[in-house]
Amino acid sequence: MERTQLLNVLLELSASFGPPGQEEEVAAICRRHLEGRAVCRRDRLGSLVAEFAGDGPRVMLAAHLDEVGLMVKAVTAEGYLRFLPLGAWWEAVLPGTPVRLKGRTGEVRGVIGSRPPHFLRTEERRRPLAFEEMFIDVGAGSLAAAKAMGLEAGVMAVPDVSPEVLAGGVVRGKALDDRVGVAALLAVAKRLAAESHPNTILVVGTVQEEIGGRGGRTAAQMLHPDVCLVLEGTPADDLPGTASELVQGGLGRGPQIRIFDPSMIGNRRLIEMVREEAETRGIPYQLAVRETGGTDGGTIHLVDLGVPTLVLGIPVRYAHAPACLASLDDLEKTVELVSALIRRLDMVTVGRL
Ligand code: CO
Repeated sequence: MERTQLLNVLLELSASFGPPGQEEEVAAICRRHLEGRAVCRRDRLGSLVAEFAGDGPRVMLAAHLDEVGLMVKAVTAEGYLRFLPLGAWWEAVLPGTPVRLKGRTGEVRGVIGSRPPHFLRTEERRRPLAFEEMFIDVGAGSLAAAKAMGLEAGVMAVPDVSPEVLAGGVVRGKALDDRVGVAALLAVAKRLAAESHPNTILVVGTVQEEIGGRGGRTAAQMLHPDVCLVLEGTPADDLPGTASELVQGGLGRGPQIRIFDPSMIGNRRLIEMVREEAETRGIPYQLAVRETGGTDGGTIHLVDLGVPTLVLGIPVRYAHAPACLASLDDLEKTVELVSALIRRLDMVTVGRL
């Protein structure tokens, strides 16, 4: 995929609506890019699978379609929407965020309300609001008006941020965790369709990752992969105030190999293979040992007798915040690395993992 095409796919994916459990819009974009190249099907939770049939081992490539979102819990008499977080949000980033909701009768725009500083006492300014104290304002004015807009318990919301290209091939947009991974997945699939490879490739867009790796688990149970690479928009840590020796996910510094997080230990032989391939090709990479967090790898690697799995990260600054940044260079390099790895994963290599 050309750089411009890759960029356009990423922008389209970033703009699409896909909180956990409502990923259809993102899945439809993927299907449009994959159909004609591979047979597409879904598991019963909604994860999308495109199969590139071949011999040899079954290689699963997974990226999650969903993004952190919000779910309406109740509508007040005045038409404000109370909500729950879907996925790990930090409360402090939410107040003042413009949001898009999918009401029963169509799309609605609004904003997460915040009390202006004029009305805050000193002690209130010192702590972030709790989710229970926040609300979405769609300008309804009454419960009846909100209802007429199709707003009720269960309606979901995501940030209303249109993607933009900044300087130096950096993209700003919502949901770059994990739309960068999904863009990489689609680009790899496009390459595969034009090349020969020794294996069966299962390109999987998983659902409900942000609430516990649920779609990854069911997809892997359906597919019985022999090996899996998870492509994840991983939180970047090259921020002011972080000691340079602790930076494991810098923007523009190449794909990240996740060695450890509390949900999974990356397969060691797979790690060596990825490093060799990156070094041969002159692709820079970063190693991550994470004290917190988890990915689809956490559930996928425990399916069947165990699946040798590795997470490759594309660093995303401000992951799980309304506007994130990611680098097109990192995305391109990840596509190159993953495409090269797939060609190496034949019966003999996978048998040694
Ligand atoms: Co993610």
